[in-house]
Amino acid sequence: MRPFLVAGNWKMNGSRESIARLVNEILQGLEVTANTQVLVCPPYVYLADTARLLKGSTVILGAQDVCAEDNGAYTGEISGAMLQDFDCRYVVVGHSERRSLYAEDDRLVARKFMAAQKASLIPILCVGETLEERERGTTHAVIMRQLKAVSDVAGIAAFGRAAVAYEPVWAIGTGKTATPEQAQEVHELMRGCIRAGDARIADAIRLIYGGSVKAANAAELFRMPDIDGGLVGGASLEAREFLAICKAAA
Ligand code: 13P
Repeated sequence: MRPFLVAGNWKMNGSRESIARLVNEILQGLEVTANTQVLVCPPYVYLADTARLLKGSTVILGAQDVCAEDNGAYTGEISGAMLQDFDCRYVVVGHSERRSLYAEDDRLVARKFMAAQKASLIPILCVGETLEERERGTTHAVIMRQLKAVSDVAGIAAFGRAAVAYEPVWAIGTGKTATPEQAQEVHELMRGCIRAGDARIADAIRLIYGGSVKAANAAELFRMPDIDGGLVGGASLEAREFLAICKAAA
């Protein structure tokens, strides 16, 4: 059975002090279960502190983004190898905020996905439709396009070392969660799309849902057959709420 993955994406929030407090509270309250992996993705500048605090625990460290290039004159960027240096195992690529606010297109996201794997990091590829795309009835086409952009260049086998997060843009930070049925429908579509390329990978890959996940709705989302965890933003900034979501996954 594939273990659940509950990932906290802290985005650009917190301070050195509050992040340390949050990590400690999570470590103190976490009940370790064999079938759930817990991942936290702090801002880059808090990776070192967080790595130190997590040492010896079961909580995994991840980053929120990675540069598509290996090294060189890319002012302000952080490479996959640098993230490896700080004990990161996962990295989010193609988050909708990166796509919409920093103009990251499917091609760049695919390059970041491959750069992550080249540095032995596990990319969490984010896909999701906007409200306008959903209302136009193009949700499936958008998700397929975003997945295909990566599988076309990285190959379907690359999904054997990746996770995919379905994050409908209209549900991110809005308090408006997709219903379990809406989320399941897209997760099933994604698994089917991967299955067409490789059935073994489709069965093993973690497909996680993100978009206003909170303790009150996590259990019903996680109960769906193709939802293998969550990518949690706002609710992961409060230890008690995040711990309750982790518990719902177990
Ligand atoms: P919220 O949980 O705050 O809606 O954010 C979701 C998200 O973007 C996680 O990557």
